[in-house]
Amino acid sequence: MAVLEILKYPDPRLHLVAQPVAIVDERIRQLVDDMAQTMYEAPGIGLAATQVNVHEQVIVIDVSDDKSTLEVFINPKIIALSDEAIDHEEGCLSVPGVFETVERPDTVTISALNRDGDPYEKVCSGILAVCIQHEMDHLQGKVFVQYLSRLKQSRIKSKMVKLERQGA
Ligand code: NI
Repeated sequence: MAVLEILKYPDPRLHLVAQPVAIVDERIRQLVDDMAQTMYEAPGIGLAATQVNVHEQVIVIDVSDDKSTLEVFINPKIIALSDEAIDHEEGCLSVPGVFETVERPDTVTISALNRDGDPYEKVCSGILAVCIQHEMDHLQGKVFVQYLSRLKQSRIKSKMVKLERQGA
């Protein structure tokens, strides 16, 4: 396994749209394992392949307290969304140090493939619902700060560019 480099906002590669995985083979399983290690090492609770500059539809998530429950979503699709919405403070490994409130549906039903390539469905609520929607946005080339006002976005952008220059 390997720790991969995480792209930082406003890197334009974060806005590329990920393609579906054609076949879940050893290459994809290696990617899943490397992404999991990268996420745990960061540490974070979710990571999309887009963030490690691989533009295929792969997501890893672990929202458990003891980091014992890795969830793998390959080619995820939303098949149902609740009408109820929740506000949640989000952060992102590609936008370090920035935490902002985003409103999203509070329950989503997802269909996806697991690490073995087998299809499954999962009803996600609470923090898992927030996380899977955040990560699926990444696969569409969308970073959570794009839900914020233009003013906030440009402030965050300058802050990130400045940090980058300082070599942080
Ligand atoms: Ni993120």
